[in-house]
Amino acid sequence: MTIRAFVPRDSGALAVGADEVAAELCRLAHERGLMLDLVRPGSRGLYWLEPMLEVDTPAGRVAFGPTTIADVPSILDAILSDGDHPLKLGLTEEIPWLKRQTRLTFVRCGIVDPRSIDDYRAHGGYRGLEHALRMSSDSIIDDVVKSGLRGRGGAGFPTGTKWRTVAQAGRGQKYICCNADEGDSGTFADRMLMEGDPFMVIEGMTIAGIAVGATKGYIYIRSEYPHAVEAMNAAIEAARRTGYLGDHICHSTDSFDIEVRVGAGAYICGEETSMLESLEGKRGTVRAKPPLPAHKGLFGRPSVINNVLTFSAVPYILDGGAQAYADCGMGRSRGTKPIQLGGNVKHGGLFEVAFGITLGELVDEIGGGTLSGRPVRAVQVGGPLGAYFPRALFDTPFDYEAFAARSGMVGHGGVVVFDDTVDMAKQARFAMEFCAIESCGKCTPCRIGSTRGAEMVDKIIAADKPAADIAVLEDLCNTMKFGSLCALGGLAPIPVLSALTHFPEDFGLAPRRLQAAE
Ligand SMILES: Cc1cc2nc3c(=O)[nH]c(=O)nc-3n(C[C@H](O)[C@H](O)[C@H](O)COP(=O)(O)O)c2cc1C
Ligand code: SF4
Repeated sequence: MTIRAFVPRDSGALAVGADEVAAELCRLAHERGLMLDLVRPGSRGLYWLEPMLEVDTPAGRVAFGPTTIADVPSILDAILSDGDHPLKLGLTEEIPWLKRQTRLTFVRCGIVDPRSIDDYRAHGGYRGLEHALRMSSDSIIDDVVKSGLRGRGGAGFPTGTKWRTVAQAGRGQKYICCNADEGDSGTFADRMLMEGDPFMVIEGMTIAGIAVGATKGYIYIRSEYPHAVEAMNAAIEAARRTGYLGDHICHSTDSFDIEVRVGAGAYICGEETSMLESLEGKRGTVRAKPPLPAHKGLFGRPSVINNVLTFSAVPYILDGGAQAYADCGMGRSRGTKPIQLGGNVKHGGLFEVAFGITLGELVDEIGGGTLSGRPVRAVQVGGPLGAYFPRALFDTPFDYEAFAARSGMVGHGGVVVFDDTVDMAKQARFAMEFCAIESCGKCTPCRIGSTRGAEMVDKIIAADKPAADIAVLEDLCNTMKFGSLCALGGLAPIPVLSALTHFPEDFGLAPRRLQAAE
């Protein structure tokens, strides 16, 4: 009898001992003379259960977690006897947290072996590309437009429109740039996907290349993601060996190849024009727009820039799924959103669901409230530039427009939870300080304004003349919002003002006094 077991190789699982659990499983199997086929997939995204060990059974995969080395002998006994175990979670697919999701982008993550292109193909991989190779550039872009896909990096720009602009940008060298900088606090979906299903990212980028007439792609990954860099490089090599990258991909007339570039780690290098500068080997500072990167991007050539999740949604759409994708979601937010739950939350992890789920459902039902057991007080959605929402706004549905209507943003889908011990004045100060530290320095409202903003928050907390100081801070925030060259300076006021609006008591202000100041 051969035991086929799965222990994740995802960084999140490795951080809590997945390698040690895998090694112990191998050692014990050898000691007991058992045949073991050990696969190292990505994570299923249930991080509070990592390292999660799974085993193949006739009924499907059965999960155990969270495991330690000490649990492995008894888990092995339970596997062999098909008996119970305190850490046994039952059939993985039946775990309610997973079952409630609509996994279109993360459909294979945690299931396939990320080092095996055959496994990827056996699970439906490369069907989208095979379709695309039989289609015209226009029809590929029509499918992307029809799906309603919008950029998953933050701004939510319609992907098909961007691709069409690049396709129509004349002949000559064009580029596909995959933004895998993932600098937002509380986000990890790009990393999980690159580590757990790297061929999907490659497939999405290749389809983009065929659609717009680009033969070269770059993936820009932050240096803090060494496992993702390794996974992407290994997958690129495998795709080249099997004819899915390089000249005449799949014996077609199209050629496309990809290179990984590692960033040195600056938040601003996730901003698309800074990323281009960095990709070109320069310091990551923002370029003025126009020209748009779609007209004059990498090395001055027309370029598609999309987030990892945006490219990864494309294979499903091209595999006949454009309408099915568009059928999910609400309003102008179509398809699914991989949401990342983090911070002080009981069940943190990756939850992919159709747009429309409310913030309250996510935090209370899916996340299970705080890990500390104390009441949830605030949630920051959309990274360090996102608004802090109080419980009163928990009926906000996950939808770009619904969040914007409440002065917030969905962004890359990071949800960071805080309990009632949080000091929102400190959080507001931190937001300005973050902007001051990460500012690229190119424009004055952000470079100077963020430092002055942190000082103003200090003054408000000191409560000398709060009403007057709040008026100055609001004026400064408006200058940053309307005068900054890019969204780092433009959005930095959002967390600060949301903290002041929703949690005035933390600044020593009664709600009435704040309204008077407004
Ligand atoms: C300060 C700042 C940081 C950003 N960081 C990222 C990032 O880490 N990853 C990303 O995909 N987009 C990031 N963006 C958004 C990009 O500029 C760009 O809109 C995005 O990569 C386009 O891809 P999409 O249309 O697929 O979202 C950032 C924007 C700003 C202003
Ligand atoms: S807003 Fe800040 S990060 Fe953006 S260009 Fe200006 S100084 Fe640079």
